[in-house]
Amino acid sequence: MTYNKEELREVFKNAPLKIGNDFYEDLNDDLFDSLNCASGDYYYSHGASKLAIISVNGDYVIKIPYTGELSEDIWYPTEEEFQEFFDPYCNAGGDCPWDYCALEVERYEYAKQFGFEKYLAKIELLGYLNGYPIYIQEKCETYYDSVHSKHYTEEEKKTTRSICGLGKFDYLTNENWLTDFRFYYGNQALTDFSNFLTENGWDDLNDSNIGYLNSRPIIFDFSGFEG
Ligand SMILES: Nc1ncnc2c1ncn2[C@@H]1O[C@H](COP(=O)(O)OP(=O)(O)O)[C@@H](O)[C@H]1O
Ligand SMILES: [Mg+2]
Repeated sequence: MTYNKEELREVFKNAPLKIGNDFYEDLNDDLFDSLNCASGDYYYSHGASKLAIISVNGDYVIKIPYTGELSEDIWYPTEEEFQEFFDPYCNAGGDCPWDYCALEVERYEYAKQFGFEKYLAKIELLGYLNGYPIYIQEKCETYYDSVHSKHYTEEEKKTTRSICGLGKFDYLTNENWLTDFRFYYGNQALTDFSNFLTENGWDDLNDSNIGYLNSRPIIFDFSGFEG
């Protein structure tokens, strides 16, 4: 990953992030609009637990964890509605139980013990903005973005299923991606890694969380999500 911390500090210097303030999905546009950079340098995407600001020309993605979510779909909630309907996330573990990026860093470090970090996009803490944690991760091609030209035969997918119990558990079920994984890293790697994911309960590895890095099959969202 190539990035300059000082330049990124400039890009984010006006971002309305502050520890103690809530940051959630409805504030994506405000945050994105606050970026101090040329239009077109970044775009964003998000899921339930994080905003991802993706560098168009760089090889990195800035990830910012949400503190929680509104349980009702309210545009511009009043203070009272906000207090009533805001659910802080509390199951990410660690010192900061809403921070699913911190969980991703922890899991990345844990995977290193087994040499499995090569199957995960590298993520690290970039720093704090007014006390609010911001992370940086290797940019991947998402499964959806990839022009996935390989559609494996039923026989090839059957072999993948037979050496990998994952399909049974709903942890990771994309058979094309899993077959890519098997051909890229080998049958034993697929067995070992699928056992690791199952034993550690790393779930929610749906098609929005997997992809490729220089054609290497890779997972970029491995924090799961339990609200
Ligand atoms: N490393 C990455 N490279 C490319 N796109 C990414 C990366 N990380 C996240 N994204 C994009 O941002 C979305 C949300 O990020 P993700 O880590 O999946 O957060 P969440 O936990 O909220 O689902 C992803 O579905 C994907 O489209
Ligand atoms: Mg995701």
